[in-house]
Formats: sequence, structure tokens, C-alpha cells
Amino acid sequence: MDYKKIIAERINEIIGMDVEELYKIIEVPPKKDMGDFALPCFQFAKVLRKAPNAIAEDISKKIDKSGFEKVENLGPYLNFFVDKADFVRETVEKVLNEKDNYGLMKVGEGKKVLIEYSSPNIAKPFHVGHLFGTVLGSSLYKIFSMAGYDCVRINHLGDWGTQFGKLISAYKKWCDEEALYKDPIKELLRIYVKFHKEAEKNPALEDEGRMYFKRLEDGEKEEVELWTKFKDLSLREFKKVYDELGVEFDSYTGESFYSDKLDKIEEELANKGLLTESNGAKVVMLEDYNMPPCIIKKADGASIYATRDLAAAEYRKETYNFDKSIYVVGLEQSLHFKQFLKTLELAGHEWAKDCIHVSYGLVRFAEGKLSTRNGDVIFLEDLLKESVQKTREIIEEKNPELKDKEEVSKKVGIGAVIFTYLKNGRERDIIFDWKEMLSFEGETGPYVQYSYARAKSILRKLGEAKESVDYSKLVSDVEFDLVKQLKNFNDVILHAVDRLEPSVITRYAIEVAKAFNKFYNAYNISNTADEKLKNARLALVEATSIVIKNSLKLIGIDVVEEM
Ligand code: ARG
Repeated sequence: MDYKKIIAERINEIIGMDVEELYKIIEVPPKKDMGDFALPCFQFAKVLRKAPNAIAEDISKKIDKSGFEKVENLGPYLNFFVDKADFVRETVEKVLNEKDNYGLMKVGEGKKVLIEYSSPNIAKPFHVGHLFGTVLGSSLYKIFSMAGYDCVRINHLGDWGTQFGKLISAYKKWCDEEALYKDPIKELLRIYVKFHKEAEKNPALEDEGRMYFKRLEDGEKEEVELWTKFKDLSLREFKKVYDELGVEFDSYTGESFYSDKLDKIEEELANKGLLTESNGAKVVMLEDYNMPPCIIKKADGASIYATRDLAAAEYRKETYNFDKSIYVVGLEQSLHFKQFLKTLELAGHEWAKDCIHVSYGLVRFAEGKLSTRNGDVIFLEDLLKESVQKTREIIEEKNPELKDKEEVSKKVGIGAVIFTYLKNGRERDIIFDWKEMLSFEGETGPYVQYSYARAKSILRKLGEAKESVDYSKLVSDVEFDLVKQLKNFNDVILHAVDRLEPSVITRYAIEVAKAFNKFYNAYNISNTADEKLKNARLALVEATSIVIKNSLKLIGIDVVEEM
């Protein structure tokens, strides 16, 4: 039962305004004594030529109140109090029937959404910033899919550019083959750094690097083989991380894929009169839009990041005919996205407006002392390992008897990291603070996971609710508040879709856990003497466990049955 819809339809009968418009106006009031839903009447004043207060009063007299406990006007508002028993039954039964599918909607049916995320650079460390984009994009994929959109996950690997010429040159001079196989990215990074140091003393190295990149672009066998090797080794490492996080992709089409599609872009821009020469480089001037030019080709003829993005955008439109194309990339690339999307628009692609840069902030550490292997770069393996390790210590202390400690520490430890990333608005910087993020109290991953495990432990001890639950028993404020939270799940998902914000789901998971713990602390379920009440409470416990599980799943966290 969609109360908002019912209210909108009944109001429509009285004042004639469009049901969908009305639907959007209906609010959930902040205070209980204002009802469960409210209709502000300000908007109608002009059309109806009456004061909002009088309109609210008028409607309250005329409206069909069936299914509601009462409908009251208070100032310019019309407040609706739902029939509690009906509301509770409808909600809890729906959750229990739909289980894992509770929250699944058809809103996005028939609409294609591309989500590009993670996109690390070959031969470079996968760092904590990439991890932010990885969990953010992966979560958006799950949220959009839940709302019924047809989604494609793309990893736009950074696997092309002059740096690969330098890497080939460095490889030939200094690479230690054994070290390369043992820890590929570390060795590739070592020789790449060495190349830059040496090139300061000996600038001829730069030319050599360019020469090798040219050979790679021309498809020379040896260079292509080396590049493929770097790429395979790096991917192997990246995939370890993805497996650990449960992150997947439908396509790994990275920058190199577009290397033969760049001339077409240059030609297209030239034909449309957008290309200008500037110090030997070819650029699209964007001064009318207060931006520096978008460089298409450098003076030495080398292609560039932006050109590959233009080619990728056109390719994706042709291949997938998307309704929306999302780029989950750090805030620091905002200008790049503005420039290339403006260029796309100037080239006459009206669908440029459907390409969206979903940006995120920086990652910092509170104590500034995450132990790392090499001091300056924070490797994400270290971050994950440390989180799992610390969780293990906490569990060892709190619940030494627990089975599967290893597995539980992993899920809770990694979950805590993901939770921290997705807890606040994505453009805010992330500050990792071990004590805070691993605490079992407060707004943390372990707190929400613990709430789930607690619900499951009640069900293990007392059994699930028996058939024919009497929902009219669940009428206390504490119970009703929890049910209202469970009911909100669909609205919350749609809100997250609208704002492209997984944090909306994370905050919701916290709210559900809080409402559940309040309920848990208020009543001793196993000692509830009234059997019918006890049975109804068990149904509520199970429904809550399902909603916590489903919401954590949307942000990429697995629950544990016990912890
Ligand atoms: N590989 C880039 C980096 O690590 C991110 C790629 C972002 N995606 C894009 N279409 N430009 O900074």
C-alpha cells in the first residue's frame, strides 16, 4: 500500500491538481504529533484564491478518511495519521514475503545506465583514492539495479600514454624479473621512479621513452608484448582487490582501446570548425565558457587523456545507447570533465547532457600513521589488512568463543572500511580513524552489522514467528517507529538514485539499526508473557534483519550471522 499515492488521489478528487504533482508535495513530518504524512497547502493558495489555512480546513472536512486513524488540519498543513495495525501488517508482511527482493523496483525499467568506476592506472599502485571510487561506483551500480535500471559496469583502465614508453625503456635497463613476478606493481613503480631520476641527469632518456611509445602505437611486436605483460601483471593484482571487495565489471575497456579511434575525433572536431592551433598543439578553445582550452593533440603529435575520453564517450553512446553515463572519478578531475563534456556538447552531441561526473573527495588518516610498506604511498592492501587485523583483536577480546573468527573479522573489517567511505556525502574528504570506524557503538559498520547479528541471534534462540501474526499488537511508539523505518526503504533507494549518493543508504542503515536497538532495549522479547505479542515481535525482528541485510548489500557489505 502506497499511502502517499492514496492521499494524492483523494486530494486530486477534491482540488483537481495532478496526482503526480501532489505525490511530490506530500511530506513525512519531523514530529510524531504531526502525523505520518502531511500535505502543505501553500502551493494551492494562488489557484484556489484562499488562504492555506482555510484550504487545509476545507479539505479536512471533505476528504475520505477510510484507512486512516484520523486526518487533521493544523495551520496550513493537513496531517494524516495512518491506521497503525494496517500499516504494520502491510509493511512487515511485504518485507517477509519479498525477503532479498524487498526494495526491488521497476522505476528504471527499460533505461540503460553506464557506470564507470575504479579505473586504476596500469603499473601504478591502486591507492586509497581509487578505493573510494571503487566502492562508490560499485554501490551506485547496486542501487540503480535495485531501482530496476539496466546497468553496465565499466573499468576505464589507465593503460595508454607516453608513460608506457618510459616504462619499456626502464624495463630494458633495470627490471629485476624475479621481483617483478613476486610483487609486480612494486617493481614497476621502482623502475618508473628510477627512470625519472635518471632522466633529470640525462634528458636523452625522455626521447628514448617517446620513441618506445611511438613503437608501441605503431604496433611493434616487442613493445606490444611488454605492454601486454605489464597490463596482465597489474590486472592480476587489481583483481585480487576486487575479489576481496566483491567488486565486478562488465567491461575492462580502458584507454588503449580508443587509440585507433582518435583520428576520427580530431577529424570530427576539425570538420565542425572547433579545432585551433596553439603553439603547435591542436585545441578546442573554451574561453567563452571560462575554461582553459581542451587539448586534443600535443605539439609532438601525441594523443592525450581528453581525446581518449571523447572517443570513449562516442563509442559508448554508439555501443550502448545509454540514457545516462556516469563517471565516478575524484573531485580533482572536475575541470577535465567540464572541458571534455563541453567539447562534446559543442560538437553537437545533445546527449552530452546525459554524461555525469560523480565526484568524490580526498582520503586522509586521522593519526597519520597507517603502517605502510613504503612510507609515502598508502597501499590499500595495507589498509584492508590492518582493518581486518584490528577487528580480529576486538573480536578476540569480546567474543573469544566465536566460530569462524577469521571469516567474520574479514567481513566486518572490510565492511568497516567500506562503511567509512560511504557514510558521508561523497564530496567530503574521508578521514580514517581506526578507533572510531571499528567501534561497535556509534555510527559505524560494525555497529550496524552487530545489530543484524543480534536480530539473528534472537531468531536462533526463540525461533521465527509462527503463522497468522496479530500485527495489531505492535502499537507502541518504539515498535511503530521501527516499522516506519522499514517502510521507508524504497523511498530511500529512489532518493539515493536521484542524488547519486550511496551515503543516503548508509545513513538509512544506521537509522534502522538505531530504531532496532531502541526496540531491543525497551522490551525483553524472550520474557514477553503475551504469546501473541511475542510472536508479532519476532516477525518484526525478522523483517528488520532482512532490511538491514538488504541495505548493507547495496553499499557492498556482507552481513555476518554471529559476531
Ligand atoms: N585512470 C584515471 C586515474 O587514475 C582515472 C580515469 C577516469 N575516467 C575517465 N573516463 N577519465 O586518475
